[in-house]
Formats: sequence, C-alpha cells, structure tokens
Amino acid sequence: MTEETTLTGQAPPPVRDWSTPDLDGTEFDPVLAGLMREGPLTRIRLPFGEGWAWLATRHDDVKLITNDPRFSRTEVTHRQVTRMAPNFAPRPGSLAWADQPDHNRLRKPVAGAFTVSAMKRLRPRAQALLDALVDGVVQDGPPADLVERVLEPFPLCVVSEVMGVPAADRGQVHAWTREIISTNGVEAAGRAKDGLYGWITQAVRARAASPAEDVYSMLGTAVARGEIREEEAVGLAGPLQIGGEAVTHNCGQMLYLLLTRPELMERMRARPEARGPVLDELFRWIPHRSSVGLARIALEDVEIAGHRIAAGEPVYVSYLAANRDPAVFPDPDRIDPDRDPNPHVAFGNGPHFCTGTVLARLQTELLIDTLLDRLPGLRLAVPPEQVLWRHRTMIRGPRTLPVTW
Ligand code: HEM
Repeated sequence: MTEETTLTGQAPPPVRDWSTPDLDGTEFDPVLAGLMREGPLTRIRLPFGEGWAWLATRHDDVKLITNDPRFSRTEVTHRQVTRMAPNFAPRPGSLAWADQPDHNRLRKPVAGAFTVSAMKRLRPRAQALLDALVDGVVQDGPPADLVERVLEPFPLCVVSEVMGVPAADRGQVHAWTREIISTNGVEAAGRAKDGLYGWITQAVRARAASPAEDVYSMLGTAVARGEIREEEAVGLAGPLQIGGEAVTHNCGQMLYLLLTRPELMERMRARPEARGPVLDELFRWIPHRSSVGLARIALEDVEIAGHRIAAGEPVYVSYLAANRDPAVFPDPDRIDPDRDPNPHVAFGNGPHFCTGTVLARLQTELLIDTLLDRLPGLRLAVPPEQVLWRHRTMIRGPRTLPVTW
C-alpha cells in the first residue's frame, strides 16, 4: 500500500475488521452502523483477499465514487482485494467488472430487453404467471411457505420469459439457478454453474440468426454481427439468468416487514393507489445485502472527505449506508411511508446501476399487489422470531415465510 497521509495531516482512520456476521431479521449491520459513526471515509478488512480497503458511507461520496471513471472495476480483477467472498473468479463479459467503453459495448445488446417499454409489454404475462402460482396456494389452503410457493418460482419464471428459455428446458434451468443461489455448498453450486453455462452457450449459438426479441436471441445475433465475443455473451447472460434471486430475498424482507408492522400493512391496504412511494421507502430501508459488494480501484489520487485516496488503493461504497445518511434522509432508521423526496440508491448508481431495476420493480409491485389483494387476511403463521433467515449469504432474506390467511 502507499504511504498513509490525509489532506488534513491527521492520521488515516484505523483499519477495522468486518467479519460480516450472520444477521437475522431486518437488523441493520451493527458493524456498518459503527463505521458510519466513525466518519464518512473509514478503512476495512474483510474476511478474504489481502490488505485493506477504503469504505465510503455518505450519500454524496457514494454517488461521486460510483460515477467517477477515476475508479475502475476492471483493475480489481488483477488483484486480491480484501473481500467478503472466498472465491474470486470474474468471467469475461461480466458487466460488473467492465469499465467504459467496454461496459457500454457489453450492455448495449441486452439493454433493450430491460427498458420500461419492454417491461410494460411483459406485465400481463408476468401477472398471469403469478396468478397461476397464487391459484395453487389458494387451492391448497393455509398454511403456506411464501418463499417456496411464490417468491422463489415467480422471479425464475419471469426471467426465463425475458431471456427466452423454452418451456421444455425451464425445469432444468431453474434447478441449476436454485442450486447456484442456495447455500448447499461450493461443489454443488460449481456443478450447477457448469450445467447452466453449458446450456447458455448452446442457446446463444442456436440463436445466431434469430429475429426474436428474447435476450438469448439478442446475444446470439450480437455475437454473429461481431459486436461481442461468445464468451462475453455467456458471461453477460449468466448473472441476468440468476438475477431474480435478488427479488426473491428483497421481497421476502419486504413482506416480513409488512407482516410484522401492522400500521404499515394497514397503510398499504387502505391506499393501494399510493403503494409506489411506500415500496421505494422499503427499498431504501431494507438491508438487502451482507457487507459490501464489489470494490473499485483508484486509477489516480483522489481527494474525498478530507482524505487522499491514492492511486492503486481499493475503495468500497455501501449503498445500504448511503440510504441511511441523515443528511439526506431525516430520521433515517424510521420507515416513513410519506418520505419525499426519496433519492435512495438501493439499485446502485452510475454506469453499474442495476440492469434489472425496472424488472425488479415490476415484479415487486405485482407480488405485493397480488398477495395483498388476493389474500386479504394474510398474516404470519408463526411468531416473528421463529421465521428462519438465510445465513452465510450475500443477499439477505427469510429462508421460509410461513403464512396463513
Ligand atoms: C447490479 C440491486 C434485481 C441484475 C446491482 C447493484 C445493486 C443491485 C445495488 C450494484 C450496483 C453497483 O455495482 O454499483 C438490486 C436489487 C434488486 C435487483 C435491490 C431487487 C430488488 C436484479 C434483477 C436483475 C439484476 C432482477 C436481472 C434480471 C443486475 C446486474 C447487475 C446488477 C446484471 C450488474 C450491473 C453492472 O455492473 O453494470 N443490482 N438488483 N438485478 N444487477 Fe441488480
């Protein structure tokens, strides 16, 4: 690491170990809360990788860093930056690790599939898929595990619709994605990844001349036109195919909050036309992930919050912390359904802003509307403290959500 100095001449902040403990419920990580109190820019050491990294927690610094080309994602792929996950194997074509102009080149072939107008076209089909799942739940009667019956299968079905997975292959593709996102172990997930990526390669090859508007056709034709390489197309498709996981767990947390806070549920039921802003407030408040996501590396010296981040040093931002910045969100730990404005960064910021934002929003709206409207007496079937939570996971959420109505 480079020499430690700050613009103010003070000693740099101490390096804090962040072991990312398993947290239950929707508790905000106390380590992150402590780091936020310590200062706008702190230093952290995560369980894997090497050395330490800067951590930015304030809304304005997070927005600045995530939108500044002086911070590179690609540089991280050449290093063993301190990180939360044990394994580190960035794939070629991955949007998450690309800098401009590569990032634009890669995002372009699939961007059309995730626009607001594409999602409008998708809405009736997605609603039909969800209705079929909820029909099954209603038919079988209470109690039901919402995670198993609705929150897991629905995003998988919708994403398969967008990607263009043929009906005959959906069972297998869904089994692979479920295995990859499960916490069953590295080996099983590795086998599932091989299966899924092999299948994706075939799908991309088979659609080199396909005029259809599904993502595999868009990728197949982009490869045929020489805009992206085949391995890039496969690297792009994988995270999109798996991305539904985020909806499962985020909605799991959202429903848990609604089911354990009667005043919030009452508000949603009383004013269905005004649910949109409440969903945004919940996106802001929900501790979506454990720890922090992907680092960036400073390509030159950059001054932030009175500190000098030197060229070559790694930096993390916390969107969770930015969403609780009291300078932007008064009384930030309170869920305020009337919060306005609400410039949250739950889907990220800058060029790496979540590709699936509109899709995630569509699915969340449909899930909340459909479950609340079709199951009027919806409530937890167990005391809140008996709900089981995902452990050793990047994305937090309930493992099961037993409900009755
Ligand atoms: C990236 C949040 C759903 C695909 C991200 C980022 C966040 C995020 C915070 C990181 C931004 C960064 O790296 O700076 C969420 C939340 C979701 C959700 C809260 C659900 C509630 C989805 C869905 C998909 C998806 C449904 C795809 C079908 C992606 C991809 C990236 C990404 C591909 C990487 C984008 C890039 O680096 O250019 N998401 N996401 N996400 N998300 Fe999501």
